[in-house]
Amino acid sequence: MPTALITGASAGLGAGFARALAAQDHTLILTARRTDRLEALAAELRAAHGVAVHVLAADLADPAAPARLLADIAAAGLTIDLLVNNAGYGARGDFAALDRDEQLGMVDLNCRALVALAHGVLPQMIARGSGAILNIASTAAFQPGPWMAVYYASKAFVLSFSEALHEEVRGSGVRVSALCPGPTRTEFADRAGMGDMAAFDAIASDADTVVRDGLAAIRTNSAVKISGAVNTLMADAVRFAPRMVARKLAGSFQKRRG
Ligand SMILES: NC(=O)c1ccc[n+]([C@@H]2O[C@H](COP(=O)([O-])OP(=O)(O)OC[C@H]3O[C@@H](n4cnc5c(N)ncnc54)[C@H](OP(=O)(O)O)[C@@H]3O)[C@@H](O)[C@H]2O)c1
Repeated sequence: MPTALITGASAGLGAGFARALAAQDHTLILTARRTDRLEALAAELRAAHGVAVHVLAADLADPAAPARLLADIAAAGLTIDLLVNNAGYGARGDFAALDRDEQLGMVDLNCRALVALAHGVLPQMIARGSGAILNIASTAAFQPGPWMAVYYASKAFVLSFSEALHEEVRGSGVRVSALCPGPTRTEFADRAGMGDMAAFDAIASDADTVVRDGLAAIRTNSAVKISGAVNTLMADAVRFAPRMVARKLAGSFQKRRG
């Protein structure tokens, strides 16, 4: 059975990836900070699908955590065939007024941990001639996002990094894809303080659809998969719009949330 490491598996998209991959007979390694949630999900998936599920709690905003996690996985004799680099959060507000450590933690989690885990698994995947990394970016990656400045920038990093890796590993048997969801019903918006939740909910996709698109991206070896027709249309429009217009639109969208 292939083994998948899923970060941020205690909620939202990560839990969705865990359910979908358990149904496809993957051995799972689930990580996040909330162990109770991970254990409950692991018990559910073992009972429903008879798969092996390992729970390894980690605070991936701690720069030492990715190496520790990978060492624990190696010590358990597990080899990662699929890395779903999913853990992440956002924070909305004036950059200057938002908590400094929260902003830096976002860079550490959304970017640093994602790079560290990819770097930890890729050499072995290349040596084996197989394996996949799915990095969760966002439609936020396509333009700067005033009032959510660090989050948008972190996702632009994830998108650029993933596309570059996709090219680097071409022909090696390893696949790297970036998944770009738009607004999705998870705990994300609440955590990010996104204000008008009714407006968010009105345009949000459900997590299962986004998960399906992510797994399809890996299957088809797509460098970038934008989830949803409207999100794809908007990302395309942004590509052809002047940068100044794109950032002003994103800014007015975030500021309006009240
Ligand atoms: N939902 C959206 O609208 C949306 C849109 C585009 C992209 N995304 C991206 O999708 C990914 C998943 O988000 P989601 O929507 O599923 O959000 P979510 O429901 O809030 O889940 C976030 C996950 O990340 C984990 N996490 C947060 N801080 C962590 C830390 N310091 N160390 C380890 N794990 C941590 C959380 O677990 P613990 O709290 O237990 O640690 C949780 O499992 C993120 O990268 C997000 O940026 C979401």
